[in-house]
Amino acid sequence: MREKIKALTQQVDEFKVESKELLETFRLRFLSKKGEINQLFNDFKTVLPEDRKEIGMLINQLKKKAQEKFEQSSTSFSQGATKSHQHEDLTKPVNQQEIGARHPISIVRNEISEIFSRIGFTVAEGPEIENDWHNFSALNFPEEHPARDMQDTFFVNKNPDIALRTHTSSVQVRVMESEKPPIRVIAPGRVFRNEAISARAHCIFHQIEGLYIDKKVSFVDLKQTLFYFAKSYFGEGTKIRFRPSYFPFTEPSAEMDVSCNICGQKGCNVCKYTGWLEILGCGMVDPNVLKSSGLDPDKYSGFAFGMGIERIAMLKYNINDLRLYFENDLRFLKQFKSVM
Ligand code: PHE
Repeated sequence: MREKIKALTQQVDEFKVESKELLETFRLRFLSKKGEINQLFNDFKTVLPEDRKEIGMLINQLKKKAQEKFEQSSTSFSQGATKSHQHEDLTKPVNQQEIGARHPISIVRNEISEIFSRIGFTVAEGPEIENDWHNFSALNFPEEHPARDMQDTFFVNKNPDIALRTHTSSVQVRVMESEKPPIRVIAPGRVFRNEAISARAHCIFHQIEGLYIDKKVSFVDLKQTLFYFAKSYFGEGTKIRFRPSYFPFTEPSAEMDVSCNICGQKGCNVCKYTGWLEILGCGMVDPNVLKSSGLDPDKYSGFAFGMGIERIAMLKYNINDLRLYFENDLRFLKQFKSVM
């Protein structure tokens, strides 16, 4: 027994705890339940009564020694001040932190906002839960008029006056009510329509509204502003065309198409072989809307436009299903990297 204790003491002394792994080996070998020192305590039963005092002391000394060595080494590891530093490669790159990516909708929204900010548009916001006045009535949707059916509405608490906004045009009214011309704003935001969800339609989507009000604003200003936007966003050679359309809050109204740069207007399945992509609705702000919002239509005129961000992001990134934007599948989201 004495010999065994002596040998173990020597082993404890000579054991080089040079890494965390070796520290664990040390612990398992000497200090764990099934370790060598505990084994000695088990063997203690066989020691003759007259030797017990001495042997007991020796084992306790050994145990103390091993424990001290263990504690010393483990604190020095946790402080990082270990002799083993000479084995670490200080030139190794640090662990890579994974950087998150912006949502494609945010990227496109920021890019569009930036393009308009260069020509003096600032960003305006309005509530997503809106009253009838700002979403419909002030925008010249007559009561009980079928025009309201153009946009299937989610009402809140069955209150016909409160609804989730169906378009960002509601922000036009809010801005005109609270600001004096000249007004140059864009209003990005979420909108809601009671539509069945499919690859081409969703009950939640995003729009960017634009509004420009001043003295003597004409359709030429509208065209040039949107031409500037189309070139900035889709590339220098981009062409635009306007098709007559109808919105209750603009007169005249139009829809704007940009030339399909995917096929160079030769025809492809994205532009459905027309060479053109429909991207927004626009028009001159209807005098009734100016009046409702507290502006004098004899003094001021202006234009407005509205585009769907999902649609523009689809064109930009070749995304073919609207539902992908809302599923939060990391495999989809990780593909979009941007500084914006
Ligand atoms: N609010 C219209 C829509 O949601 C778009 C639009 C905005 C049209 C501004 C004209 C002017 O379809």
